Amino acid sequence: MTALFTLFQLGPLTLKNRIIMAPLTRSRSQQPGNIPTRMNALYYAQRAGAGLIISEATQISQQGQGYAWTPGIHTPEQVAGWQLVTAAVHEAGGLIFAQLWHVGRVSHPALQPDGQLPVAPSAIAPGGLAFIADESGAPQLVPFVPPRALAIEEMPYLVQQYVHGAKNAQAAGFDGVEVHAANGYLLDQFLNSSTNQREDAYGGPVENRARLLLEVVEAVCGVWGAGRVGVRLSPLGTFNDMGDADPEALFGHVAERLNAFELAYLHVVEPVIAGNATTETPDPRAGAVLKRIRENYRGTLIVCGGYDAAKAGAALGGGRADLIAFGRAFLANPDLPERLRVGAALNLPDPNTFYGGGPQGYLDYPTLAQQRGEQPMPDCGGFEPA
Ligand SMILES: Cc1cc2nc3c(=O)[nH]c(=O)nc-3n(C[C@H](O)[C@H](O)[C@H](O)COP(=O)(O)O)c2cc1C
Repeated sequence: MTALFTLFQLGPLTLKNRIIMAPLTRSRSQQPGNIPTRMNALYYAQRAGAGLIISEATQISQQGQGYAWTPGIHTPEQVAGWQLVTAAVHEAGGLIFAQLWHVGRVSHPALQPDGQLPVAPSAIAPGGLAFIADESGAPQLVPFVPPRALAIEEMPYLVQQYVHGAKNAQAAGFDGVEVHAANGYLLDQFLNSSTNQREDAYGGPVENRARLLLEVVEAVCGVWGAGRVGVRLSPLGTFNDMGDADPEALFGHVAERLNAFELAYLHVVEPVIAGNATTETPDPRAGAVLKRIRENYRGTLIVCGGYDAAKAGAALGGGRADLIAFGRAFLANPDLPERLRVGAALNLPDPNTFYGGGPQGYLDYPTLAQQRGEQPMPDCGGFEPA
């Protein structure tokens, strides 16, 4: 357990512990414009006790947006909004990376520029429903539409979107970026055989399906330099209707190829969560796939999914990973590192307030000191629902 509280050298950054705040979409940006706010800044600053915060997924272009109210990082107003967030986190002694996001097919014309179709490696719609806002701003769930398959000539344009997001993340004062290649979004759609049925240089064998990810990583590393770029993968994830014929071969190959870059880290989501809840039946291949990734990738490995203090300590002690990310536990416990250190009970997350709304279920999860009455309870005043 104490291993969680040792310093860690992550590229040029010294982390004060090995507890990472996982990226958590909260859909509370200012409308119109998908702009981060003072309220978002306070939420992240409350969690600055993490060794490193990874921001909620943030779209790199209008085409990259898949849900109502998620923040972007492609306009000057959004960059200014993120400056509030990074300044507040740094002021509170924390470090924060931006998670760069393009959702690919997990979108809807209502969110796309000029009402166009979402784009994807192949014209295959995900099952399930898209989360959009209607004209009055009320949330609405509507069926996904079949996306438009990208032409090969568009690939450089996709890479440029990531470069634009990466440069904006620098301007916004982040400490680095995480390329989101997990959870069924664009780069994961290229990786997995179920969503990629292309017959060109970006489809077919794993070498081709990994091509776009590697091009993006190379370009983003060109912006940020060594040790400031992470990559997130979710082998065996089924969220957003994903699946691959041979995940061990696919993700083993990707892990091996990522050695060519001096990444800050590789971040692997373990398949323990389905939607918002822990699954009762985790994929039995998970252990073998993670082992293969650990063997093939020679840099820093973060794991995430279903960790508590005991499991995290065992994972670090057993060499399974170097850093542990916590999602739902961090959402509900702004002082999670302190609670893990003293073995205190954790606040439980409320799924009803995960996405959208105002400060309730966002700023008002109390710290231990607040629960003991040593400090005033969090003040949500002055923040209106988005
Ligand atoms: C409300 C919520 C929002 C999430 N948003 C993101 C996101 O923006 N990007 C991402 O890569 N994963 C996202 N995830 C997945 C988490 O980062 C994490 O992988 C997952 O919750 C499992 O970790 P846990 O068991 O510690 O919660 C989200 C999960 C939840 C519950």
